[in-house]
Amino acid sequence: MTALMNLAIVGSGYVGLVTGTCFAEVGHHVICVDNDLKKVKSLQAGHIPIYEPGLEELVKKNVAEGRLSFTASIGDAVAASKVIFIAVPTPPQPDGSVDLSFVEGVAREIAMHIKEYRVVVDKSTVPVKTGEKVAQTIKRYNPDAPIDVVSNPEFLREGSAVDDLMKPDRIVFGVSSDKATAVMREIYEPFKAPILVTDLNSAELIKHAANSFLALKISYINAVAAICEASGANVERVAEGMGADHRIGRAFLNAGIGYGGSCFPKDISAFIRISRELGYEFTLLEEVEKINFNQKERFLKKIRESLWVLRAKKIGVLGLAFKGNTDDVRSSVAIEVVKQLISEGAEVTAYDPKGMEKALPLVPGCKMAGKAEDVADGADALLVLTEWSEFKTLPYAAMKKRMLSPLLFDGRNLLDPQEMRGLGFTYTGVGH
Ligand code: UDX
Repeated sequence: MTALMNLAIVGSGYVGLVTGTCFAEVGHHVICVDNDLKKVKSLQAGHIPIYEPGLEELVKKNVAEGRLSFTASIGDAVAASKVIFIAVPTPPQPDGSVDLSFVEGVAREIAMHIKEYRVVVDKSTVPVKTGEKVAQTIKRYNPDAPIDVVSNPEFLREGSAVDDLMKPDRIVFGVSSDKATAVMREIYEPFKAPILVTDLNSAELIKHAANSFLALKISYINAVAAICEASGANVERVAEGMGADHRIGRAFLNAGIGYGGSCFPKDISAFIRISRELGYEFTLLEEVEKINFNQKERFLKKIRESLWVLRAKKIGVLGLAFKGNTDDVRSSVAIEVVKQLISEGAEVTAYDPKGMEKALPLVPGCKMAGKAEDVADGADALLVLTEWSEFKTLPYAAMKKRMLSPLLFDGRNLLDPQEMRGLGFTYTGVGH
């Protein structure tokens, strides 16, 4: 029988909110902390600031059943909880390094409130050796604090975050004391997932190494896509043939306009930077970044080649979020493509099932459509920029009739080329 615990999660952003909610769902008592009082109040009233399938229901249920609460007070949370998770943002800085000031600030604040044994767990994605610094910081401000510091990276994907957390492939924690190991095992016991216990530095590295490897897979297939285009091969078939080898796997071999989001671009440049500081030039990852950047450029080039001049051309865009099933538009390649088209004089009308509100301030010149099919009205070209599965089943035959010219550029290889050509579109995908 699992011992249920009192847990505090500092930082109620994506990772903090989903993690805290899932901990509550398995029975722990969770206090989510955030220094943004407005956000705390809105969470207390049951308003979820992000779109994440299944999250709202779980938050409401666990609040109603008394296992999940929200506060702005770190002090109250530390007093009530044996384990304190740090899940604050670690935003990128212009030089590619990570801004750790929120982590440091929270560590200092936690230190002030510790009176008895506490396990401080870092869940934010951080450079290797951050855990050591968190421990030093807490000790500096509270030399007698009886603490253990643990690194417990989070592998959730946006859009399937609740599922990823409830049914993880693996749980990793880096820890140096038996006491803290036992506490962490108890917390995760209800999830019935494989647990890997490592030292602090290895756990931190696992996160950056895993994300960089996934990005590398995407850039690899995008490079292969370029060769496919030049040789008349089909990247979908190539990915299938490669992926059937279980040592490779088919996942993350979808060619497209490149990866975006709040994790991959930031984590890869942070990993390059940390590696350099540690004396290793990770040029392989520099190439991954370069291929990702060029992928968007190659896509834009195809549009320019077909339309010749972009000025005053009407372009309909399907998708603004950085991937399907999310309203997140941070570092979205779709947004970058739209910005570029607008800067070259095109008139863009876009639709995204969830991302339009957050996208609007980033692309002020872009018109937002009420329905997906409306982006086709009078369009010279139609672009698919996000892999929303609902875009697979739009009434494309009717949409084509509303367009001025039937050019279709599928930046996510979401649609069936033959079917689209059958409908009369001039279809261009990526890598075939
Ligand atoms: C990623 C990791 O997958 C997750 O484990 C980690 O915790 C956080 O970072 P996330 O950023 O939510 O998750 O999205 P993910 O599904 O990994 O997609 C990232 C980007 O890669 C998206 O822009 C997506 O469109 C793109 N992508 C993904 C591809 O272009 N091709 C693929 O085959 C897969």
